[in-house]
Amino acid sequence: MVTPEEVELEFYEKFFIAKNLEPYPVQEQALGHIFKGENLLVTVPTGTGKTLLAKAAIMLALRTGKTAIYTTPLRALTEEKFRELCDDFGPENVGFATGDYKVNGGAPIQVLVAEILWNRIYGDRVHAPADVVIMDEGHYFNEPERGYVWEQAIIGLDPRAQLIILSATVGYPMSFVQWCYLTRRVPMALVQSTERKVPLIHEWREQYLIEVVRELIQAGDVPAIVFSFSRKQCYEWARLLKSCARFVTDEERNEIEARITEVLFDTGFAKELKPLLLHGIGIHHAGILPRYRQLVEELTLDRLLKFVVSTETISAGINLPAKRVVFPSLRKYIKSQARLLKPSEYHQMAGRAGRPQFDTEGLALSLGPEEVIQEFRKEIKDLKRSGRNVEEDKIRKKYYSKAKTEARARGDVTWDEESWQKLVDGQPAALYSQTKITAEQILAIGLPDLTIEALPGVALLAEATPTDKAEDDEGARIRQPKEAPVPAAPLAPMPKQAGDNIATVIDNLLLEDHEKRNAHKRLAQITANLQALGVLDERGAQVKGEMIGKIRGMDGVFVYYALLAHQYTYEEYRELVEYLVDHDVIQKVMNREADDKKRQWILQRMRELRRENPHVTFDDAEVEYNREFPRVLTKSELVHQEFLAKVPHADLHGGKTPKDVWAKMEESGLGFLDVVEKFELEREEGSLFTYLARVMKAAKMLREVTSIDDFGILEGKIRKVLAEIDPRVLDEK
Ligand SMILES: Nc1ncnc2c1ncn2[C@@H]1O[C@H](COP(=O)(O)OP(=O)(O)OP(=O)(O)O)[C@@H](O)[C@H]1O
Ligand SMILES: [Mg+2]
Repeated sequence: MVTPEEVELEFYEKFFIAKNLEPYPVQEQALGHIFKGENLLVTVPTGTGKTLLAKAAIMLALRTGKTAIYTTPLRALTEEKFRELCDDFGPENVGFATGDYKVNGGAPIQVLVAEILWNRIYGDRVHAPADVVIMDEGHYFNEPERGYVWEQAIIGLDPRAQLIILSATVGYPMSFVQWCYLTRRVPMALVQSTERKVPLIHEWREQYLIEVVRELIQAGDVPAIVFSFSRKQCYEWARLLKSCARFVTDEERNEIEARITEVLFDTGFAKELKPLLLHGIGIHHAGILPRYRQLVEELTLDRLLKFVVSTETISAGINLPAKRVVFPSLRKYIKSQARLLKPSEYHQMAGRAGRPQFDTEGLALSLGPEEVIQEFRKEIKDLKRSGRNVEEDKIRKKYYSKAKTEARARGDVTWDEESWQKLVDGQPAALYSQTKITAEQILAIGLPDLTIEALPGVALLAEATPTDKAEDDEGARIRQPKEAPVPAAPLAPMPKQAGDNIATVIDNLLLEDHEKRNAHKRLAQITANLQALGVLDERGAQVKGEMIGKIRGMDGVFVYYALLAHQYTYEEYRELVEYLVDHDVIQKVMNREADDKKRQWILQRMRELRRENPHVTFDDAEVEYNREFPRVLTKSELVHQEFLAKVPHADLHGGKTPKDVWAKMEESGLGFLDVVEKFELEREEGSLFTYLARVMKAAKMLREVTSIDDFGILEGKIRKVLAEIDPRVLDEK
């Protein structure tokens, strides 16, 4: 048998010496841990050769007669790594599996989409699916929808397996390593560096956006991304940019024109987008159709667009590096509540600056608030003109502090150089639990035998626990210790495998104690609901409702009840699916007119009533309105009410709203772009698309789970309409 030292030599020979490469220092450091068989978190920037670290662990496993699993978050990435590993280690040694495909399942090296590993551990109950497990792109741990897969795979993985996690961005990595240690009871080493291959420079500027734009274009420092935190602002800034002389040459303009004609539709948002593109400006946000977003990306990569005004969507995994990024504002509004950008958000976006193949550095420019700059510039100019002594610094400070006071008075925030510096110095996001306790998770992972062991949350049911913190509160994440020391003496070994049921999974989540208590409480509540419906027996074993575990992203418990308890026509199934999809932006726009009329009526009535009683409120008048014009509840709503009466914890099943966006489209035979025009949805085309795609996917899933044909018919009808807008996007998933 070969020794690890021999494999190490072979590895260096094959992957560095033969290729005439020098290992980077961080690679050497990480390889030291890997060949010692240690658990390891590597967090080093993009392009620092993390793939080679995975290959080292794989080679060690292969040569010493062990097995390895390598996971990635994306199918495309899984296929790419599979091909690479086949080349390096021989196709007979490598298998791969995604949701749909499986190749060479018996091979010692398996390249898997992360969900497959989770399935092995929780579906097949194999806690040691391989001797070595490598998780690439480990920061997916923080993905709201899928992060649980990473978190729970770590919890449920046999502690004897060597675990290697690779990522380009993990904030407070020491805390994460500490959590892994507490969960798995085996130490985990950390290799960390923030040195980028293309250095990133942060600059504070007291300039107007328009000045910066002119400067960048003159210096040829484009493409640049201008970040905005609201869609409205996106359009305003795009218009501002368009007031500059055209950014593209005649030749470039012609090329853009040729490239966009086949992609842009004749109506809708295209009318607004086209002149911008021809000027060399792109717009990018989630309210824009996928095909237009892609067009903007492609034109920018080909250097035809010089500026892209974008919301944060661009920083989330889209390949659009730029030479410069500009933050004209560091303020964000969430549900009209203002706050400053968080460090993790800032770094995500700023990191876009500096393209590996083209630039020697990237520059992230943050601008002071224009109102403040305008005020102090004016005062300085006036003073200079009158020949008086000018203390510029003092004047600037005065206006920043005035802006701060004024902002505070109106419940707003403002920013200055100091707050910018805090952003720059701040850390990227710490990894934090994204597990949501749902019926689907409980049924998939399983409960302990409840006749032997009560759930910890049962004792909490009577207690009024403080409500969960707002989801958006990063404070909770940052409160973790910055440098959590790994204890020198090992902890006592686990009494049993963490993650052998949902209660032990919760015990090990990367959460603070009070959040774990909330999770336990929720578990007890959902369990009680499932028992009330007869889905679980008194031991906690599932006896009915198999479909609940298969329904993703919808309230599976309600769906199960609704389908079992009633008969439906096609139209009623359709209504049910729209009712279940949680996305009501478009419905709100469509209801605008009716809502306005209602409000007018109520205001009018309120005025009348006040003549007799000055204390009458809007709400009082609304009660009258509802009495006068009672709304007929939809069948879905009626079934939902009936359902709520049957479960002890009805509050877990709220949040559903009746919607008829698709129903209207289907009945009227209006096409996608007709609807856009009729309801003035030009700037919401992307949201309409997203909504319909979600209804379609929900119908597809329900068809698969229940075999009810009407769901399939519904899916097919929506697919047909959407395919005319964007066939590629529909193929993706
Ligand atoms: N020591 C080295 N010297 C020179 N090039 C290297 C070295 N190590 C790796 N590379 C090359 O650098 C490129 C990027 O490597 P790799 O894809 O592994 O980066 P990564 O760290 O995984 O980045 P990301 O976070 O984007 O996934 C590859 O082409 C790889 O061959
Ligand atoms: Mg990589």
